[in-house]
Amino acid sequence: MNMDQRILEELRNKLNIVDVISSYISLSKKGRNYFGLCPFHDDHSPSLSVSPEKQIYKCFVCGESGNVFDFVKNYEHISFMEAVSLLAQGIGFELGYEIRKKKEDNQYNKYYEIMDIANKYFQNNLLSKEGLQARKYLENRQLDKETINTFEIGLSLKKMDGLTNLLISKGHSLEELNLIDISNKNKDTYINRIIFPLHNRDGKVVGFSGRIYDNTNLNKYQNTKETPLFKKRENLFNYHRAKEEIRKSKSIIVMEGFMAVIRAHTIGVLNCVATMGTALSNEQASFIKKLSNNVYLCYDGDNAGFKATLSSGEVFMKMGCNVLVIPLSNGLDPDDYILKYGENSFKELITNALPFSEYKIRSLKKEYNLNNIEDKTNYVNSVLLEVAKIEDEIKKEIILKNLAKDTNVWYNTLEKKLFELQNKKSDSKNEEIVVKKNPKDGYLKAMESLVYYALNYPHAITLIDNSNVYIPNEMIRLLVNEIIAYYNRFGKISEADFYTHINQKDEPKLIEMLKKILSQDYPNNIDDGQVNECLVAIKNYNIALEIKRLEKEIKEENNLEQQIKLMDEMLLLKSKEGKSW
Ligand code: UTP
Ligand code: MN
Repeated sequence: MNMDQRILEELRNKLNIVDVISSYISLSKKGRNYFGLCPFHDDHSPSLSVSPEKQIYKCFVCGESGNVFDFVKNYEHISFMEAVSLLAQGIGFELGYEIRKKKEDNQYNKYYEIMDIANKYFQNNLLSKEGLQARKYLENRQLDKETINTFEIGLSLKKMDGLTNLLISKGHSLEELNLIDISNKNKDTYINRIIFPLHNRDGKVVGFSGRIYDNTNLNKYQNTKETPLFKKRENLFNYHRAKEEIRKSKSIIVMEGFMAVIRAHTIGVLNCVATMGTALSNEQASFIKKLSNNVYLCYDGDNAGFKATLSSGEVFMKMGCNVLVIPLSNGLDPDDYILKYGENSFKELITNALPFSEYKIRSLKKEYNLNNIEDKTNYVNSVLLEVAKIEDEIKKEIILKNLAKDTNVWYNTLEKKLFELQNKKSDSKNEEIVVKKNPKDGYLKAMESLVYYALNYPHAITLIDNSNVYIPNEMIRLLVNEIIAYYNRFGKISEADFYTHINQKDEPKLIEMLKKILSQDYPNNIDDGQVNECLVAIKNYNIALEIKRLEKEIKEENNLEQQIKLMDEMLLLKSKEGKSW
C-alpha cells in the first residue's frame, strides 16, 4: 500500500488539476480558485470550484469533490485505477510494477474468471444441438443473432451438473462455485433456462438471470442470489453498455425489465437501463443520477408500473433530477409496445415525454371521484401542491385553467390557494435551516470538522489522538482512524493525497462520507482552540447519551442499592458535562 501511495503521490504532483479539468470543461479564475459548470449535476451557474493550492475540486451544490484522479474517474465513468492509468499515460509517467500487480491481484479476479467461463459455456449451449428449442423461442420473440450476441444471451442445459463439473475440472472448488451461486451444492444453479448475463458497472459478469422458455410452471426468471460479486441493490441491467450513450445524449431511460432494454437497443435507443423489477434502491437511484440528471421513467403500462413511476419519480425529484415520464398503458411494457406499434411510435413517445409533475397531475385525476365533494377538494389540493413545484408560469396558468374547468372551481380561488401554498413552501425552507442549526446537530458538524481539520492542520491529528475521544459515527470514526494511521506512516497529509488513499480502499461508503464532509465550507485559519471545541462537543454528546442510558436503567432497576449506585454514576457524568478537559 505505501509503495502505491508514494507513486500515486508523485504522479499527482506532476499533474496540475486546473489543467486537467480545463481539458474537460471550461474554467475561469475568480480570486484564488477556478470556477466552472459542474459536470456532475445539471448546473446552470458555475458551482464547481477548483483549488490550485490544494489540488482538489468541489461542487458546493451537488457535493461532488475529490482530487485530479477522482475527477477523471467520475467524468469518464471509469475505475479509480483506470483514471490513474489514463492520466499517467497522458504525461508518459511510468506507473511501475507495484500498481499493475495490484490491479491483477484483485481478490475477486478468480471469481470473475469463473463467471466468464460460465458465460461462454451458456452461450455455446445456445448454439449447440440442445439449443434448438431455445433458439426457436428467441426467434419467436424476434431477437436476432446480432442482439443475442450483443447481450451475450445463452442457455443452461437440462443436465444438472454440466457447468459445475466443467469448472471443477478446471481446478475451481465447489465452495467457490457455491459462494458466487454458479452451483448449488454439487448441482448447477441454472437448469434449462435461457440465460442473460448481468454485468457490474465495470462491465464484468457478476450474475445471471435465467428465463423459462418451454412452458414449465416455475418462476419466470431466476436470478443470482446476493453474492460477494452480485449486489442486487447496486445492479442496473445494461449500465456498462449504455453509459457512453447516456453521456452523449445527456439522458437516461429507466425501465423495469431487461427485455424492454434489449428491445429498445434493437431500435437504436441505447441509453436505457433496467432495475429488474419495479423496486428502485437508493444505490440504483444514485448511480442513475450520477450518469445523468435527466431521468426518463419508462415502466410497464400496468398498475405496478404506474405505482413505480410515482414512487421512483418522487425519489429522483428529491434528488434534484429533471424527471420525465414515458407513459405506457393497456398493460404493455416497452418491449410489447415497440413490437406492436413500431420504432417510430416509441421514439415519438420519448420525444413527447411528460414532465413528472404533469404526469402526476394527470394521474391524480384517475384516483379521485370528482362527483364527490370531499374527493374533489382533495383532488384540487393535491393538484395545487404539484403545480406549486412547476417553474414555468405559463404552464402553471394552463394547468390552473384546466383544473378550474374540470372542477368548476373559480380560477381566482385556485390562484389564491396556489399563492398561499407557494408562500408556505418558502416558509418551510426557512424552517429547515433553523432545524439544521439545532444544537443536537452540533456534534455531527463537530465530527465532520475534525476530519477537515485533521487533513488541513496536522496538529489536530495529535490533539485528536491524545484526546482518546470516541467518535460515535462509524464512518467518520473509520475516516479519522485512517487519517491518523496515514499520518503516522507518511509523516504528512493533505486532502488531495488522502482522496487517493481512500479510493484505493474500495469502500464506496467511506469515499461518499469523505466527499460529503470535504465539499462543505470550513474556516480558513484553524487553531488548536477550534479543534478542542469539536472534541468537547463530541465528548458532551457521548456523555449525554450515556446519561440517557443510565436514566433508563435506573427506571428499570428494582434493587434500591443498585439504583443508588447507578445514580451516583449518573451524577458524576453530569458534573463532567459541558466541561472541557
Ligand atoms: P416482467 O414480468 O415485466 O418481465 O418483469 P419482462 O421483462 O417483461 O420479461 P418477459 O417479456 O416476460 O420475458 C420485469 C423484470 O422483473 C424481474 C426481471 O428482471 C424482469 O426483467 N423479474 C420478473 C424477476 O426477477 N423474476 C420474475 O419471476 C419476474
Ligand atoms: Mn415483457
